[in-house]
Amino acid sequence: MISRAAELLRESRNPVVFSGAGMSRESGMRTFRGEEGLWKEYSPEQLSSLSGLRSDPEVVWEWYKMRLITGDGIVPHAGYKALTFLQKKKGTLPVITQNVDGLHKLSGQTDVLEIHGSMRTASCLDRCGFFTELNPESLQDLPPLCPDCGAILRPDIVLFGEPLPHQVISRSYKLAEECDLMMVIGTSVQVWPAAGVPFAALENGATVIEINPARTELPQGENVISIRGKAGEILPALVDMEENK
Ligand code: APR
Ligand code: ZN
Repeated sequence: MISRAAELLRESRNPVVFSGAGMSRESGMRTFRGEEGLWKEYSPEQLSSLSGLRSDPEVVWEWYKMRLITGDGIVPHAGYKALTFLQKKKGTLPVITQNVDGLHKLSGQTDVLEIHGSMRTASCLDRCGFFTELNPESLQDLPPLCPDCGAILRPDIVLFGEPLPHQVISRSYKLAEECDLMMVIGTSVQVWPAAGVPFAALENGATVIEINPARTELPQGENVISIRGKAGEILPALVDMEENK
């Protein structure tokens, strides 16, 4: 299975990556669903929605501070490094990610499309134009307030019920419709419209290489090679095989 995937990756002319929370699991970030998923303990409606931010800003910012602290100082695992190597070698490897932890960029990858935004910056909830980088130290008093107009700040992630950044999601679908291979890594493929990206690749006749220890919503057909394993182990092995074939 993995050698077949390495061969297809080697022959691929315009591969694309599509990643989810599982891509960062071995760097210490928790996933949202599954056994130890965050949504088993916390309510997405309360913590990841505009209404939740407006009604309970302090609780929501406690949550983001906890996630920023987790995300602060974590390092991209070997799977990230393998993707960075592959991107440099191939010269093109757009990375579409649902993750807001910034680890693809932190591992030196370029052409990263963060379709759910990033938790590493915040802006004014009343859109007065204020914008700032975020780190745990900057979150002493919660909720953080806009220094220009006094409104609450919001993390620059897409909250449930909000539209995805138009340019980013339309380019993601365009890449899916034009690629010949998509690596779908660490996602349960459940949250639309992002989840539609791998399906758009399949519809265009691309091959999908799925890297995930568990089964997902992706159809198991001849165009899908599902490698049941962890991103931090499979990606280095795959890229190593692609390199030395
Ligand atoms: N390597 C690869 N995949 C893994 C690993 C690992 N080490 N550990 C877990 N996984 C897989 C799980 O089997 C699961 O299929 O990662 C997937 C994580 O799924 P979710 O927690 O649903 O995360 P994701 O698909 O990214 O969720 C999409 O939902 O809550 C929203 O905005 C949030 O961007 C997120 C979106
Ligand atoms: Zn403001």
